[in-house]
Amino acid sequence: MSAIAAQIPLTVMDHEDPELFEELAAAVRRVASTGAFTGGAAVTDFEADYAAWCEVPHVVGVSSGTEALVLALRALEIGPGDEVVVPANSFIASAEAVSLVGALPRFADVELDTQLMSAETLRAALTPSVRCVIPVHLFGRTVEMDPIMELARAHGLSVLEDCSQAHGARYRGRRVGTIGDAGTFSFYPAKNLGAWGDAGAVVTADEQVAERVRLMRSHGESPRYRHRIVGTTGRLDAIQAAVLRVKLAHLDERNRARRRVAERLREALGEAASMQLPAPVEPDTDHVFHQFVVRTARRDEVKELLAARGIASAIHYPIPIHRSEAYEALGDGEDVAPRATRLAREILSLPIFPTMSEEQIERVGGALRAIAVGEPRTPLVR
Ligand SMILES: Cc1ncc(COP(=O)(O)O)c(C=O)c1O
Repeated sequence: MSAIAAQIPLTVMDHEDPELFEELAAAVRRVASTGAFTGGAAVTDFEADYAAWCEVPHVVGVSSGTEALVLALRALEIGPGDEVVVPANSFIASAEAVSLVGALPRFADVELDTQLMSAETLRAALTPSVRCVIPVHLFGRTVEMDPIMELARAHGLSVLEDCSQAHGARYRGRRVGTIGDAGTFSFYPAKNLGAWGDAGAVVTADEQVAERVRLMRSHGESPRYRHRIVGTTGRLDAIQAAVLRVKLAHLDERNRARRRVAERLREALGEAASMQLPAPVEPDTDHVFHQFVVRTARRDEVKELLAARGIASAIHYPIPIHRSEAYEALGDGEDVAPRATRLAREILSLPIFPTMSEEQIERVGGALRAIAVGEPRTPLVR
């Protein structure tokens, strides 16, 4: 054994798993050898498998999670003059899609414990022009959907679930994406279900929404050269579909492994008292641990101390969307999402991946316990 301990990465990609890599390379080769690079059986087979797995009637494969949001919003007839509520604590794409269809994002704050939008924070963001809400199941944790659905229905809003970080999580027994009017997924390589490039999907029980997304992803065309509506080049590549179909077969087991690793991390971190661990999962909600996010008042210092011990960590996200350069001009100077602003200073994503070993978990736990004991503590004010 080398005297220098190996680095612990934030996540592990497919090229580091030789068995899976060979299986995926063979699937890529099979598609490439047919010459069917767009559309064809690879795409329809994946869509059928993903629909069965998500327990939803329709899946339409598209080119990215952002395109999935854009096309779903257009299919729900959201456009200029409309406002859409988006949580301030999310990846910026949740808001960008709203802007790209010509509508205006309205930023909702999040709860400090779950770091997610709630019915209360949605209610505070409502205006007479709001026509849609995008709950984001961030980090893999499910948003408390029932009260949001109730409020949305009372105000006549469409509900579009952004499930890009929560593939397979269940809320009250239902897979995410099947609770609102439609759901969107990103299959960016680092996601719980990741392609070998950019890819995404829209899932819905609404046949009309599915049909509109299907038309728009390929220039509104059906049949060939009949362009019914204005669309785009937003298709899922056949090679990505083939990769995703192979990985889908492993996804339940990999999500279970993530939950097991999260439980072990929780135990291993037990004594790192200045740190707030992910809130326990409430009954009827779920967490597939795309990220394991802790909170600490000493975030930047802890990040550096971990790096010095060869342990990667990341900040998702250092600037809340409403305070990003792209969106700060929308505000009037007042912070509409102060909890999201505060979280951005305190959150730290620790390494988590399905094959994380007991030794790696112990090293992360040991490092954080040592940091908590060895340095002066600034307790986190709750
Ligand atoms: C919550 C969320 N929404 C949307 C997206 C956008 O997905 P993509 O990068 O595939 O366009 C991402 C991807 O990182 C995401 O995490």
